[in-house]
Amino acid sequence: MAGDPIPLLTPYKMGKFNLAHRVVLASLTRQRSYNNVPQPHAVLYYSQRASKGGLLIAEATGVSDTAQGYPDTPGIWTKEQVEAWKPIVDAVHAKGATFFCQIWHVGRVSDSVYQPNGQAPISSTDKLLTPQIGGDGVVISQFTPPRRLRTEEIPNIVNDFRLAARNAIEAGFDGVQINGAHGYLLEQFMKDQVNDRTDEYGGSLENRCRFTLEIVEAVANEIGAERVGLKLSPFSKFGECGDSNPLELGLYMVNAVNKYGILHCQMVEPRMESEFFSHSLMPMRKAFNGTFMVTGGYDRQDGINAITENRADLIAYGRYFISNPDLPKRFAFNAPLNKYYRETFYSSDPVVGYTDYPFLE
Ligand SMILES: Cc1cc2nc3c(=O)[nH]c(=O)nc-3n(C[C@H](O)[C@H](O)[C@H](O)COP(=O)(O)O)c2cc1C
Repeated sequence: MAGDPIPLLTPYKMGKFNLAHRVVLASLTRQRSYNNVPQPHAVLYYSQRASKGGLLIAEATGVSDTAQGYPDTPGIWTKEQVEAWKPIVDAVHAKGATFFCQIWHVGRVSDSVYQPNGQAPISSTDKLLTPQIGGDGVVISQFTPPRRLRTEEIPNIVNDFRLAARNAIEAGFDGVQINGAHGYLLEQFMKDQVNDRTDEYGGSLENRCRFTLEIVEAVANEIGAERVGLKLSPFSKFGECGDSNPLELGLYMVNAVNKYGILHCQMVEPRMESEFFSHSLMPMRKAFNGTFMVTGGYDRQDGINAITENRADLIAYGRYFISNPDLPKRFAFNAPLNKYYRETFYSSDPVVGYTDYPFLE
């Protein structure tokens, strides 16, 4: 092709993975894994979004029977789940893409109906989340008061993450991304608006980050740091999970995980309508030794700018990748994008809003 290559579509080496372009499928919960088991329709969904040399991150996947807070999200703690992931992973590999599993625990963002024996969800705290109300005044989700984990129970949860990572490798995934973002269990420990503990997992920044770092270390020891990524959203307030000093938190975390030599860090952009949008992650980008991936509100040109200005190595696209299975190709041709339909993001239909978005002619 004539002309300069499009920066988003240039090759990149993420550790031992040779990527052909920088357009990553972000982790996207789709709630179509009935009874927490990945389904055959996910084979088509993920393979539609796989391209030669592409990187895909699977939807958030529960590490244990206490990890869920929504209907029909997949897990990776049982043999049945591991077997169910295999054909999905194989289909992505057949297209020549790299596939990471995102491992997850919702913590208090749950209701006892999703918990074994109807027990209380677990968290760093016993503070209850307020119900989420939609624009029409209808309650979208409500939560059960969580139970604060006892200090001596914490190693069990770390171990759940370790086993989930082992299972992900057994299922054929190339690596895992630990979900330390969006108000879920790890953030409930990291952020001072939620963590009200008085043991060694609460109080100082170092103490609040201890749990996540123990998970990173355990997972890296289990499957190798070269297969481990971490997603963080220090600036997010999602799930009533804000921090009084997000920059300090983000910097502390990337410096701390440098010690383990993990492969990638994916960081969520603060959603600010300011000229500093997409520059606020620079301190973390500079401090982190591995592959730095950004996500949140990027279009084609924002992605090109971020790569050109060396603000990121990779861009993870969420909503546009839902509606454009061939997103890298559309970016290559600067083709128009399909609109996404929010109503079907989380509907459980195995086709509609899932595998029926059109490809470019
Ligand atoms: C429908 C939907 C589901 C999502 N599920 C997850 C998830 O399972 N894990 C996660 O880390 N982020 C999740 N996210 C956040 C995305 O990974 C991504 O960071 C975010 O959508 C920003 O990218 P975008 O502006 O390109 O959509 C989700 C976002 C959407 C829209």
